[in-house]
Amino acid sequence: MKIVVVGGGIIGCATAYELARTGCAVTLLERATPGAEASGAAAGMLVPLGETARSSFETLAIASWRLFPQVAKDLRERTGIDVEHVTRGTIYPLFTAEEIRRAEARAARHPGEEFGIAAWDAREVRDREPALATNVRGALFVRGDHWVNNQRLVAAYARAAVAAGVLLRSGLSVSRVVVEAGRARGVVADGERVDGDVVLLAAGAWTGQLVGSFGGRLPVEPKRGQMFALTHVPPVLHHVVHAEDVYLVPRPSGELLVGATVERVGFEGAVTAGAIAGLLRAALELVPALGDLAITRTWYGFRPWVPDGFPVLGPWPGVDGLWVATAHFRNGILLAPITARLMTAWITGGKPNMDVRDFLPDRFATAH
Ligand code: GLY
Repeated sequence: MKIVVVGGGIIGCATAYELARTGCAVTLLERATPGAEASGAAAGMLVPLGETARSSFETLAIASWRLFPQVAKDLRERTGIDVEHVTRGTIYPLFTAEEIRRAEARAARHPGEEFGIAAWDAREVRDREPALATNVRGALFVRGDHWVNNQRLVAAYARAAVAAGVLLRSGLSVSRVVVEAGRARGVVADGERVDGDVVLLAAGAWTGQLVGSFGGRLPVEPKRGQMFALTHVPPVLHHVVHAEDVYLVPRPSGELLVGATVERVGFEGAVTAGAIAGLLRAALELVPALGDLAITRTWYGFRPWVPDGFPVLGPWPGVDGLWVATAHFRNGILLAPITARLMTAWITGGKPNMDVRDFLPDRFATAH
């Protein structure tokens, strides 16, 4: 089967890799370089549990989270790239008695070993992460909230894809999907027609424009996230620290990532003074010692989002051979391994290998 994948973000690269492993002839089209947009801009946190009862989203997220140890090992063996899969857990600092009560209730609700949820008192917080501000009165600790270096993960998936036989064509911008007699036949990229039996659109926040090219409608839009990084030498933090208005991600490679805004500003590509000031203020209130660290870089990305917040996965209704995998919003890195496997099983085998009802594209296709 000849497959054209549009978009060299984490979803496109991971899915191209899995498709090639099953013997498909895959061409991966990326208008810049792999991971140039949201996948490279992310922080790489792998947080599978929601705060409320188990949803279909959480089931998908947990399934993907469980794949990471094997994915990291497999990619390292195939490419030599260490994706920095860190499993030390995330601290959610708490400031009020009510927050501490809620954290204790949540820890009691999730007694299972796998995610290791615990409520810490102020002394335990001080012992485990001494740099946290003294007004932190406790913490919810989730040992199962891991993180990876997302730039390395995209690079590793892209490299593994090429090694598995994927034809990666970077610097090629897809303008439209070719649909003839109700069937996708390929795409047009910089004036060149690239043919395929199957077309998979994995172009993140830009997927709606491609769907629009044949008269379809998918209300995917960008949610800008701004971030910055500090030189983290010597390290101040050992865990991810995730508060209401800021998160801090210590990377083995010597950076501390500070994020992130969630803004509805269309494709306005800018790092703004106000956003960085807000993140800095929140970060320094939480960990005063960060004030001595050098700022190394700032950046933004456009998370792909649809109004119900769920990913959009599956066949495009009314066009044979056309598939979509996008709208992973704040969880594209976490959801990449399961999305890649699900889409591969579905495209090559004709059936999804899990419950996908909440993710189907036709929930939007009927809305116009
Ligand atoms: N997943 C991190 C973010 O969306 O900022």
